[in-house]
Amino acid sequence: MEKVHSKGNSNINSSILLVDDSEDMLEVLRRNLSLKGYKTYTTQSVQEAIEILNSTEVDLVITDLKMPGVGGLELIKHIRANFKNVEVLVITGYPSIQGAVDAVKTGAEEYLVKSFTDKELFAAVQRAFNKLYTRRAATFKSYLKREPLQGIIGESQAMKEVFNAIRKVSLTSATILITGESGTGKELVARAIHYSSPIASSPFVPVNCGGIPEELIESELFGHLKGTFTGANETRAGFFHTADGGTIFLDEISNTSHSMQIKLLRVLQDKEVYMIGSKKPQKIDVRIVAATNVDLPNLVKKNEFREDLYYRLNVINLNIPPLRKRGEDILLLINYFADRYAKETNRLAPQFSDKALQVLQDYHWPGNVRELQNVIQSLIIMTDENIIDVPDLPSIMRFSALRQKGITRTLAEMETEYIHNVLNSVNGNKTKAAEILGIDRKTLREKIKKSLNHY
Ligand SMILES: Nc1ncnc2c1ncn2[C@@H]1O[C@H](COP(=O)(O)OP(=O)(O)OP(=O)(O)O)[C@@H](O)[C@H]1O
Ligand SMILES: [Mg+2]
Repeated sequence: MEKVHSKGNSNINSSILLVDDSEDMLEVLRRNLSLKGYKTYTTQSVQEAIEILNSTEVDLVITDLKMPGVGGLELIKHIRANFKNVEVLVITGYPSIQGAVDAVKTGAEEYLVKSFTDKELFAAVQRAFNKLYTRRAATFKSYLKREPLQGIIGESQAMKEVFNAIRKVSLTSATILITGESGTGKELVARAIHYSSPIASSPFVPVNCGGIPEELIESELFGHLKGTFTGANETRAGFFHTADGGTIFLDEISNTSHSMQIKLLRVLQDKEVYMIGSKKPQKIDVRIVAATNVDLPNLVKKNEFREDLYYRLNVINLNIPPLRKRGEDILLLINYFADRYAKETNRLAPQFSDKALQVLQDYHWPGNVRELQNVIQSLIIMTDENIIDVPDLPSIMRFSALRQKGITRTLAEMETEYIHNVLNSVNGNKTKAAEILGIDRKTLREKIKKSLNHY
């Protein structure tokens, strides 16, 4: 019920200026479009229309052609010359169909011939908005053309610093440790370092240290000679050999055993590897980039990670900040992924209502860019609307929408907001949140469920 109601208002951030000398016509248009949730302005004169355009945010102008004094065609010319981001829909009577053709030539995107049905009106308005969105998306594409370093999107100060660091370190062969929460883009950054370096045409070899069983990791990394163990039917090179001349990316480096850590230390010190079964070291020339989302110094303190290896890896540290600390990037990333997944599914990238964007920006994103990517992908697949509004968003995010209601909140809303804040502070962990709030998990779950009915 609630959802349907909110959906009806999903056009709420789109505004339409109606220009017609007939008061009746203005009223019919205004009523129909307001019911659809559009914000409307009305005027009977072109002069006043121009004043409104100068002082108000207008997305679409619907104008009559024949009006006493200055006509609609003049208005269209003025809009095309001065307001690139405003769409025009012309209304014309049957006898002046030629006028409509002239209007389209002048720059109107759509025209409607009187007398049209409500359905025809809504369809024409929708088409006009689609054109507007496409044009606005093109503006975003020009950001993409400007540069994004190796596909890394970001304009926040924090990301600018990361870009600078990438440019600097890519020119050296120093070992680099990339740190940052899960999903912040560590692997993306590792690749960017390699592909902007002079050794870009040599291999980049990613190794997931946590994903290889302990008994296989040595052979995977350093290779083995034929016959050294059961199953070793051939001499096989390891990842280090494959990466020779290029970059090896040791991901999740904290997930290595003590014995493996010693072996890695030796490679870092001597720049040579021993294949299993061989006493002869082989020189290798690889750039090493490691990554971790855990606090390595803490593991060192607990004796779970070798201190000497830590210092060997941490020659240069590149820390990728969590997404919640780079607010400006959230909008860019939403557009980027919306565009990408819309293309993949062969549809127009939907628009996000201002309120939905605010909710997405306020959310704490514990899974960082990966989580945002997944949310946008699922929205594009699951939502048919051209506009994505708050009710379309995952429920955990909708909490934060409440915060925008200012001081006129009910006690229930205050409670919900507080619950949300606590949940935020513990990264969504319900057990911890319940503990802080002094209630049991079941009560918390019920309160969360109930609070979603605010929409
Ligand atoms: N700034 C960014 N611009 C565009 N895409 C990004 C950005 N940051 C991350 N991504 C995308 O988000 C996803 C996660 O990034 P990545 O795998 O590099 O994270 P990670 O830090 O290695 O995470 P984990 O610690 O979980 O391994 C990838 O699909 C990546 O392409
Ligand atoms: Mg990773």
